[in-house]
Amino acid sequence: MKVSNAVSTSADLNEVLELLRTLMEYRSSDVRQRLEKVGRAASMLHMDVLLLIYHFARFSEDNILEIGPYIGGSTVAAAFGARESATSKKIVSIEAGGRLKHFRLSSSNIIKDLKKNLARFGVAEEVTLITGRSYDEATISDVRKRLTSGDVGLFVFDADNNVRRDLDCYGDLLNDGCWLVIDDYFGPAKAAPLRAQVDALVAEGQLVPFGYYGWGTWVGQWRRK
Ligand SMILES: C[S@@+](CC[C@H](N)C(=O)[O-])C[C@H]1O[C@@H](n2cnc3c(N)ncnc32)[C@H](O)[C@@H]1O
Repeated sequence: MKVSNAVSTSADLNEVLELLRTLMEYRSSDVRQRLEKVGRAASMLHMDVLLLIYHFARFSEDNILEIGPYIGGSTVAAAFGARESATSKKIVSIEAGGRLKHFRLSSSNIIKDLKKNLARFGVAEEVTLITGRSYDEATISDVRKRLTSGDVGLFVFDADNNVRRDLDCYGDLLNDGCWLVIDDYFGPAKAAPLRAQVDALVAEGQLVPFGYYGWGTWVGQWRRK
């Protein structure tokens, strides 16, 4: 197998190793126990990814922008991290709503179930939920009322297969070094176009890969141009 040199040339190898070590420690911590409950009730994401979202929300600078919370697992993980952070943070989460069939976590009313889960895990007050498609004019203007340029230190994308569209909309809000968690980099159906977009953004120097986690989630950083 050809070994990509993207990580060793673009990101500091020590930082990548540090992230892996940090994650290993979280796996046997109380944070993991708390997030297991969240994951079971409300997330399709792998536990390692929820732990990383928690970690970035807790230790990165600035605010959090999420696109595609579904019924809230990733949002609750971010809110727990933000709550335990030394600095106060806004969490803005954009969800289109509707219904979804899933073998474990179906929802006939995504917004209703999302609000229910945010309340159930005690974070409803900490999350600004924007209902609508990420690329709708009304959504963009609502987000921009709440976040300004370079204001975001964690961007979580778990929506459809067009992350570039949303980075075109919101990229200016991300700070230099902003952490990105982008799901479905690897997997069936929607993964191929999304992977091509992420790889192109890496080749352009806009994104720096720090690793591939869980069932197909890309983790890395934003470089402001
Ligand atoms: C795979 S689910 C997210 C799973 C969630 N992050 C978790 O922790 O399990 C994808 C969600 O993105 C939403 N979505 C898809 N495209 C969207 C868009 N352009 N804007 C906002 N939400 C979107 C869908 O309604 C769905 O709830």
